[in-house]
Amino acid sequence: MSSSLFAALLVLQVFNVCGDSLQLNGVVGKSILLPTEEEGLLKGIGDMNWKKNSDDVITLVRGSENSPFEIQHIDSNFKGRLIVNNDTGALNISNLREEDSGEYVFGGLISSRSLKPVTYKLQVYEMIVSVQVTTQVNNSTDSCNVTLSCSVFGSHQVALFWSTNGGNIPGTENKTTLTVSPTLAEEIYTCTAKNPVSSQSSSVTAKSCQPRAPSPGFSPCALKSVLFSTGLVAMVSAVIAVNVRERCCREMRTEEGG
Ligand SMILES: *[C@@H]1O[C@H](CO)[C@@H](O)[C@H](O)[C@H]1NC(C)=O
Ligand SMILES: *[C@@H]1O[C@H](CO)[C@@H](O)[C@H](O)[C@H]1NC(C)=O
Ligand SMILES: *[C@@H]1O[C@H](CO)[C@@H](O)[C@H](O)[C@H]1NC(C)=O
Ligand SMILES: *[C@@H]1O[C@H](CO)[C@@H](O)[C@H](O)[C@H]1NC(C)=O
Ligand SMILES: *[C@@H]1O[C@H](CO)[C@@H](O)[C@H](O)[C@H]1NC(C)=O
Ligand SMILES: *[C@@H]1O[C@H](CO)[C@@H](O)[C@H](O)[C@H]1NC(C)=O
Repeated sequence: MSSSLFAALLVLQVFNVCGDSLQLNGVVGKSILLPTEEEGLLKGIGDMNWKKNSDDVITLVRGSENSPFEIQHIDSNFKGRLIVNNDTGALNISNLREEDSGEYVFGGLISSRSLKPVTYKLQVYEMIVSVQVTTQVNNSTDSCNVTLSCSVFGSHQVALFWSTNGGNIPGTENKTTLTVSPTLAEEIYTCTAKNPVSSQSSSVTAKSCQPRAPSPGFSPCALKSVLFSTGLVAMVSAVIAVNVRERCCREMRTEEGG
């Protein structure tokens, strides 16, 4: 899926989990907006802040009616990555990191009024770049198995799924290797890696390593019989030809003598 489509989906991924906390999924390196529930513009003297897991992330203060908010404190882990909207208090976190994941709470006191608190559970994921499946044939004397290994690049927070010829293989979720014994001549196996912000898959064709029935006409044995039959026909024809010629000549000689 294209990244722009994912960006569009992310905007829609704000949903209420159980009344107070909203779940947000972010992508490493991208930005995300945490809106507030303040309906009007923030007017008056006071302060507002965002906390992450109860620690201060950013605190802004306005000292006089017509001046903008000024940053009083910002967590050094977020330096240069935060923009707070002066009018609404919305927080924009850019260049997201996995460690930004956590619970964010907005609050404050402006014109002696407590701001409407809002809580987000932010989870930041790495985008899955690609998936690769490799095969290894184990052809021991008593069994013939193919081991498939699935490697995921870009993200380690993924769920894995295996499918064959379009159907999910039950009981294989999150297994990085899968041992199969293809019964058909060829079977297509697919490994799919998914996380809430991306999905990638890769397929391989596993060949059956059981010896196949010889195809008629092309085995050395069949070739030998063909050669043998041809030889036999040639020999028989030669014998007949000689016999016919001898009889013919004998008759001619008899005629001459008679
Ligand atoms: C608040 O608004 C002023 C003027 O619009 C702007 O210069 C300032 O950067 C804003 N503050 C924050 C924390 O975004
Ligand atoms: C958040 O900030 C980044 C970097 O300044 C900007 O590219 C992005 O458009 C902003 N997002 C929103 C929703 O304002
Ligand atoms: C091949 O399969 C046999 C029997 O299942 C097993 O004992 C052996 O360790 C396997 N070898 C490899 C290289 O996987
Ligand atoms: C290999 O396949 C055979 C059936 O062909 C199966 O009985 C055996 O358990 C498999 N071995 C492994 C290591 O999966
Ligand atoms: C598979 O892994 C994902 C990501 O770690 C996890 O969310 C999911 O619960 C796991 N599924 C199973 C069946 O273990
Ligand atoms: C597996 O072993 C069988 C019997 O020894 C042999 O006929 C077949 O060619 C082998 N297949 C592979 C892929 O090595």
